[in-house]
Parts: sequence; C-alpha cells; structure tokens
Amino acid sequence: MAIYLDNHATTRCDPRVVEAMTPYFSDIYGNAASRSHSFGMRANAGVERARGQVAALLGASAKEIVFTSGATEANNLAVLGVCRTAGRGHIITSTLEHKAVLDPIAKLEDNGFEVTRIAVDASGVVDASAVVAAMRDDTVLVSIMMANNEIGTIQPIAAIGAACRERSIPLHTDASQAIGKVDIDVVRDHIDLLSLTAHKFYGPKGIGALFVRRGRPLLRLEPLQYGGGHERGYRSGTLPVPQCVALGAAAALCDDELNSSELGRVQALRDDLLDTLLAVGDVALNGSREHRLPNNINVSIGGIDSKALMMNLRDIAMSSGSACSSENLKPSHVLTAIGTDKDRVHRSIRLGLGRFTTAEEVQTAKARFAEAIPALRLLSSGMPASTR
Ligand SMILES: Cc1ncc(COP(=O)(O)O)c(C=O)c1O
Repeated sequence: MAIYLDNHATTRCDPRVVEAMTPYFSDIYGNAASRSHSFGMRANAGVERARGQVAALLGASAKEIVFTSGATEANNLAVLGVCRTAGRGHIITSTLEHKAVLDPIAKLEDNGFEVTRIAVDASGVVDASAVVAAMRDDTVLVSIMMANNEIGTIQPIAAIGAACRERSIPLHTDASQAIGKVDIDVVRDHIDLLSLTAHKFYGPKGIGALFVRRGRPLLRLEPLQYGGGHERGYRSGTLPVPQCVALGAAAALCDDELNSSELGRVQALRDDLLDTLLAVGDVALNGSREHRLPNNINVSIGGIDSKALMMNLRDIAMSSGSACSSENLKPSHVLTAIGTDKDRVHRSIRLGLGRFTTAEEVQTAKARFAEAIPALRLLSSGMPASTR
C-alpha cells in the first residue's frame, strides 16, 4: 500500500473539485471576457462565483481577488508590483520565506532596494517585535509568510499587520500552506496582499490568486504583464475558467472544513505519528510544536541519512527538506535559518498529512518507521563514520 504523506508539496485534487470544474471544459466553454453572449456569460458566472468563494475564505470582497497561475506568480506580482511602483526603498522579509518571495526580493536588492531579512531562532517563529524594530521611514513592503512549507510554523501575522497598518506599510503574506488550516481574516489582521495556490488545498495545479486590498490607505501595484487588462489590469490574459471554478470549489470545501472536526482529526493523526517517531529515540522535532500547522512533521533522525530512509520506505511519500529544492542537494535554507547544522539537515524528513490520510495509513506508517529506523541505524553503525 502506497501512503501519501507529502501534502506540503502538493495535494490530491478532491473529486468534488474535479466534478465542479469538469463542465467548464466542453459544455460551458465560453471566454469569461466575452460577456456579449450566453456562452461567455455562463463562463463568467462560474468565474465570479469562484471569486466570491475565494474571497469568503479570506474575509475579503470578491473584487479584491486576482487570479494567477499559482503562488509563485502571486508572490512575484505582490513583491515586484509594490516595489516597482515605489521605485526604491527598504523591504522587510524573513529568512524563512519560500524562494518565490526571496528570489524576487533579491532581484530588487540587485536593483538598489535595501533589504532586512529577519533572522529566527530554533522555534522557527518570526518575532513580531523584531519586524517592528526593523521598520524605517522608507520601508515600502513587509513580506512575511503565514505558515512555513517545511517546518509548518505559523507566524504572528496579526501582530505584524497591526504594526504595518499603523505606519501605512503594505503587508504581504504568502498563505500557500495556511489555507484551510488557519483561520484567515484579511480585515481583522490588516493584510494588504495575500498569495495562495489551489494545489496546496485539494485543487488543481496551475491556478492561484493574489488578494489585493481595495480602499484606503491606497495600495498601488504595477502589473507583471500587460495585455487585455483582465483582473482589474493586474493580470492580463484569458482566464482558465475550469481552473478558476476549481479554485473556488476548493476554497468553499476548506471553508466548510474549518468549521468542522476535520482539522482535529488530522492533528490527532499527526500527533500520534510524531509521538511514535520521537519515542524511537534520538529524534528531534524541528521548529515549534505549539505554533505549527496541524498536519506538519519535520524531524531530524540521529544516525540516519534522510535519503537512505526514503529509499528504504519507498512506498511512503515524504520529503527531505522542501520539494522545490530537493532536486539539488543544497541544505534546506529554512532548516539552516533555524540553526540546524548541516549534518542534522541531511538527517531531516518532512511529512505532511492531509484530508485523505486515513487512520489505517498512519498505523502502517508508524510501524514502518519504528522498524526501519533502528534497522538502518544498525546497518550504518557497521560502516566507517565517514560513509554514514
Ligand atoms: C509557501 C509556498 N509558497 C509558494 C509556493 C509556490 O507555489 P506554486 O507551486 O503555486 O507556484 C509553494 C509551493 O511549494 C509554497 O509552499
């Protein structure tokens, strides 16, 4: 039985989402921008319903949702859009961010922007007072993620948001991993820009959105691309109607789930699996347990290379570091940022449970880990230290 525990990399598209989007391929196939005929009007109705569903999940208004191809694009649009409008200035971010935030910020730095990257301690939680202390008169953007994709730590966005609004500094948050797991309210938390992507919450790949706050104080954002002026001019290009509908359906399911016992179910399974791993001995949790997504585990396992464990447990899908950077063997920048030494980074695995994870799967995974870890340790203890 193959067990999928890599839900931070991507999630299975929920069959209810597939069902919602399917008619929009060959039945309701109009261009949502062609509102002069019924084909376009029906497609547009699907898109606008989806926009409302995404907005409802965030406590936003539908007009504030800009569809994008995913979170990488949404992050680039937010970061580059705000900073290019400002022209120059100072940016605050953290060392924990995804590359889709860090890299556009590094580009801006090459072009003359000054950047403060807030360091974090072993908890993996950004200190809101350090963000406030870094604020300057010329700060044009603060970008801090809502939840980390490797260690699952949840950041104090409400406190950062209040401080940003007081100083009229736009706050962007990458909420890709938080959607459906954290109660989000962009008004309550003073969030100006928020990125999300459907494939992290049981929707398809290739569709996401950027929340762009309307109203005062005025938020100005330069688009990344120009064309037909779709999406309030922020993102020109014909909308992929089935994907937009799917994003909306996925958001609506998350909205329901936040008010149900589902997150408690996932957390109980996660705790059961985590406690089994910790009980094996010489296994350490990376990052705070308290301020953590309910589905995340990231542990370093003494005496075992994570790649060897993954080879041994091939039928359990997991990840060493983040999926986006696991192609190259560079140590994860997130684990490094929380002070994990290189050796321990290479002994780390990330597990992500999800909506489709069953109690039976967790029982099987527990037994497999409890068997494989001591066996691999025994094997490697027979080898010279340099080859371990
Ligand atoms: C926190 C975070 N931001 C951004 C992304 C990129 O999202 P997308 O695959 O939609 O471009 C990911 C996906 O790995 C992520 O986990």
